[in-house]
Amino acid sequence: MDRRTDRIAEAGAGYPGASPIKVTSPYQTSPALLARLSVARADQRKEIMRTVYVAAIAAVAAGGAWWLWSQSDGSGQVEEGRALAIVTMPATLSPEAQAGQQAFAANCASCHGTDAEGRAGTAPPLIHKIYEPGHHGDMAFVMAARNGVRAHHWPFGNMAPVPGLTDPELAGIISFVREVQVANGIR
Ligand code: HEC
Repeated sequence: MDRRTDRIAEAGAGYPGASPIKVTSPYQTSPALLARLSVARADQRKEIMRTVYVAAIAAVAAGGAWWLWSQSDGSGQVEEGRALAIVTMPATLSPEAQAGQQAFAANCASCHGTDAEGRAGTAPPLIHKIYEPGHHGDMAFVMAARNGVRAHHWPFGNMAPVPGLTDPELAGIISFVREVQVANGIR
């Protein structure tokens, strides 16, 4: 009996009175082949389980790595108050800049940092390329202290005016910031 007979037998099976033909397919699987197939399937299952284990281990490892990473800097957030720039202080400051350093410490450092290195979550570093003289001239510093600053470069919000600064104090602050900028290659 061949495949064609098989198909005819199938086709006839639905008709009433169709003679029940006993079909023996030449493709019937021998017990030996079945045994081989089941071994192959068992191998396949082992293979799948191995893949699952490897994936699970990889997932755990990735989770652990993420956890470590998130712990290392406070659940992925930038640590509040952290310096935002690495500032090299000049070996010497001019007398005017030294006076300015005092005024800066008293009036600006709480937000911008002692060396104007910025504070995460509070205020930007003034020792930064965007505050170089060609981009933020001295007048920008005067205006910032007198009138405050509307947030535009950073996500820290507005800077309130800093009242009570004399002109010489302001000039000193500007000298201080400029000299530190120069020491850091910002000119
Ligand atoms: C209460 C916090 C705070 C204090 C105090 C403070 N600043 Fe600021 N300052 C800020 C913030 C925030 C910004 C950023 C605004 C922005 O997004 O551009 C800023 C920006 C500036 C800018 C950039 C202005 C511009 O035109 O973009 C200058 C210059 C500046 N500050 C100088 C000073 C000086 C000088 C002092 C001290 C006399 C001072 N700041 C004190 C918070 C502060």
